[in-house]
Amino acid sequence: MSLSAPTAASLQGASSDLTSNTRPDVRLEVSGGRRLSGELRVSGAKNSALVLMTASLLSRDTLRLRNVPPLTDITAMGEILAALGVRVTRSGETLDLDGETIIQAAPPYELVNTLRASFFCIGPLLARMGTAQVPLPGGCQIGSRPVVEHVKGLKTLGATVTIEHGVVTASLPGGARRLSGGHIHLDCPSVGATETLMMAAVLAEGETVIDNAALEPEVVDLAGLLIAMGARIQGAGTPTITISGVARLHGADYAVIPDRIEAGTLLLAAAITRSTLKVGSIIPEHLGAVLTKLEEAGCTLQPEGDGLLISASSIRALDLRTMPFPGFPTDLQAPFMSLLATADGIGTSLVVETIFENRLQHVAELQRMGASIRLQGNTACIEGVPRLSAAPVRGTDLRASAAMVLAGLAAEGTTTVRGLEFLDRGYAGLEHKLNAVGACIRRISDAA
Ligand code: UD1
Repeated sequence: MSLSAPTAASLQGASSDLTSNTRPDVRLEVSGGRRLSGELRVSGAKNSALVLMTASLLSRDTLRLRNVPPLTDITAMGEILAALGVRVTRSGETLDLDGETIIQAAPPYELVNTLRASFFCIGPLLARMGTAQVPLPGGCQIGSRPVVEHVKGLKTLGATVTIEHGVVTASLPGGARRLSGGHIHLDCPSVGATETLMMAAVLAEGETVIDNAALEPEVVDLAGLLIAMGARIQGAGTPTITISGVARLHGADYAVIPDRIEAGTLLLAAAITRSTLKVGSIIPEHLGAVLTKLEEAGCTLQPEGDGLLISASSIRALDLRTMPFPGFPTDLQAPFMSLLATADGIGTSLVVETIFENRLQHVAELQRMGASIRLQGNTACIEGVPRLSAAPVRGTDLRASAAMVLAGLAAEGTTTVRGLEFLDRGYAGLEHKLNAVGACIRRISDAA
């Protein structure tokens, strides 16, 4: 299908086949206790694709992105870019983004408010247009999510930045035509700040060094795209990224990396149902800490084709602590906790969340399913129970929703999972994928 008119309305209308039904009465009914077998395909990485899409603001030429997952967040980003003037055309999992004419540098609040990652367009907008007015994204379910590092870095590159009435306005000082390179030291290795500042620096005059940069694979993916567009970047994936600014970038044809968080969730689906599944594509280095923990829990993992064959018969308790990459990802903390809630034998697991201050809300929902979990500050102490029991539960954020689906796969009875407005943001047809390997999950809507 083709979306060519650069208006939010046209994208909205066209998004119906991308988005799942996310009205509050919509829920999943997960019949638990089934073994899974077969092969699962991992979609393109949501967090990469969202940022890569904003890179279309950096060039007048067309950017073709492949392996873009069909998610509501991707649709929302398409609407935001369309509002700025980018012509967005989608065909299956390929997106063409034509940034020839950018008509404004101020994405509307109503759209930005639906998608936190859209704040990241401040970097490319400023670099291309010399000005950007982007509403502050505010907090979300998992924490306050500041953007201090983004703002500090843009100032180092010569921008004047003010925050008034909830809007961040960044502009080049009078007379300047480009940002100027500078030495940025991030106080924390923020993924979003690293990405924003890389996109701002690629068109700056001179050299920029970002120290204490995030190491996440999505940062490396963005560097890969920008280099394909003509940028000069070294060191992505290390704590020091060096960018030599160029006067212009051209178009590119680029495939998004596989989603490591979805891959981890699908591996956990095998583990929690004590099944054998092939999951691919997986880039194992992107999931190092997760694969180590799955093995420590008793799963066997073998490379097979472009993915991994996972087998699980019993699960041991273990400790884990979320950390920036290459540590254990915060985005898989909730799904992994569902697995640990089903651990066999005696033993207590300790799960410590260090990245986001409010990312343990799924504990209360798992407890409703009979999980034995005590919460002390940012630490959950989990004792495995022989059987979780089905209950009506709600996913309180994207990854918590996935954790509920996983728990439902293992529970006795039929678990009703609400909060699909979160799930559908980050998982492309999760129930269809799992049903294809033997799960029994139905999407129900009272209105239907
Ligand atoms: C990205 C991911 C998100 C993931 C997170 C951490 C996207 C779209 N989202 O979010 O799924 O959970 O990385 O891996 O890619 N911080 C500050 N000051 C700042 C910025 C961040 O203190 O200016 C702190 C945050 O509060 C948080 C930590 O740094 O505690 C990590 O945040 P960050 O890496 O910025 O996450 P996002 O890029 O928002």
